[in-house]
Amino acid sequence: MTSKFAFRSIIAAGAFALVAAGGVAIAQQKPFEPQVGQAGKDVVWVPSPDGLVTAMLDMALVTKSDYLVDLGSGDGKTVIAAAKRGVRAQGIEYNPDMVALSRKNAAAAGVTNLATFTNGDIFQTDFTKATVVTMFLLPSLNVRLRPQLLKMRPGTRIVSNSFDMGDWTPDQEAGAKGDCTSYCRAMLWIIPAQVNGSWKTANGQLVLDQKYQMLTGSMTNAGSTSQISEGKMNGENITFTAGGRTYTGKVNGNSIQGNGWTATKG
Ligand SMILES: C[S@@+](CC[C@H](N)C(=O)[O-])C[C@H]1O[C@@H](n2cnc3c(N)ncnc32)[C@H](O)[C@@H]1O
Repeated sequence: MTSKFAFRSIIAAGAFALVAAGGVAIAQQKPFEPQVGQAGKDVVWVPSPDGLVTAMLDMALVTKSDYLVDLGSGDGKTVIAAAKRGVRAQGIEYNPDMVALSRKNAAAAGVTNLATFTNGDIFQTDFTKATVVTMFLLPSLNVRLRPQLLKMRPGTRIVSNSFDMGDWTPDQEAGAKGDCTSYCRAMLWIIPAQVNGSWKTANGQLVLDQKYQMLTGSMTNAGSTSQISEGKMNGENITFTAGGRTYTGKVNGNSIQGNGWTATKG
């Protein structure tokens, strides 16, 4: 009696285990569904509105020769939108389920040839290859990334959904295309060439004091010194006014080739 009872118990327990295992299997088959606001490593997931993704890609003037990297790429929507424009694009995302979902979304959109996704931490993953960086993070994370961004090739465009870069003012701002209820503004920064310091010109000296893309300083021409105004870098293009003349030129390392003037660092 006792052993019969024990045997029945074993069968019942076995059946329960099978049902439980089946339940697990069913639960494992259920596709991953991201939840707006779900935790992320450094910031939660909220997708950028479609109209803002359009505005971000428009303001970065992306072309087929660009390589776009979305830092914290979520479900991959920015990367996929860029790939649909014929741009090679890579997402870096910490959450492996979001990476798998992004790859599935890219396949459904028919852009796996251009859209790739890396499962990793944006602070540990090399993205120096990018010519356009997009992000929807937090102001504190943008500021943490700022030194790394400023070392990128001059002319690289950085576009952020809603959040700024601390005291580095944007070169442009734009609103979302079409209907948008939240996170509807984007900012663009163009990585400036580094020109801070003293330059020799044919007629004297140019002293540039650079803060991000903004320039102040002075120009000495045949012994007469003028303060610089409206000085600005746009990637490797320099422009400023001194002594009533507007100077423009292109910076190439330690030399500037200008409109009727040249300068050499030192
Ligand atoms: C606000 S969502 C933006 C998603 C997407 N870029 C977009 O605009 O729709 C931020 C994403 O960053 C991811 N994330 C947070 N910290 C990260 C980190 N350190 N490295 C990589 N991804 C991260 C989150 O998992 C989330 O998917």
